Amino acid sequence: MIAKEELINGLNEDLAAEWGTIMRYTYQAGKAVGLRGAEFREILEKEIADEIGHAKYLTDVIADLGGEPTTAPRDFEKPSELKQMIELDLKMEQEDVKNYTAHAKMAEQLGNTELKVKLEEMAADESAHARDLRRILKGL
Ligand SMILES: [Fe+2]
Ligand SMILES: [Fe+2]
Repeated sequence: MIAKEELINGLNEDLAAEWGTIMRYTYQAGKAVGLRGAEFREILEKEIADEIGHAKYLTDVIADLGGEPTTAPRDFEKPSELKQMIELDLKMEQEDVKNYTAHAKMAEQLGNTELKVKLEEMAADESAHARDLRRILKGL
């Protein structure tokens, strides 16, 4: 049986990752140039909105569980080339899928069905983000 604190810690790591992603995508959108950069920028802007939704949800849940929601973003790399930016983002999205899937299982063990389902939905969102990134990466 896992402890509630373990779940709170896991969710706080997810939240730090979301803040980091919001900053990384905002930064990359500003740095993306050229025609492909313009396409990438459009995708990022759509995904930033999703990540803000994820961060809001995690903040609410952590607070509700009695934890202190983090406001510190996870540190991130800043590659200068478009291809490296997208490769990094793809890697991070895939990591997020893994983490949300693992934490959904923890939520299930604790009998928190709403959280389990929502974390699975978030894993699905990140999978879709990864697919969008893979699609543009194939054309580079
Ligand atoms: Fe997210
Ligand atoms: Fe994402």
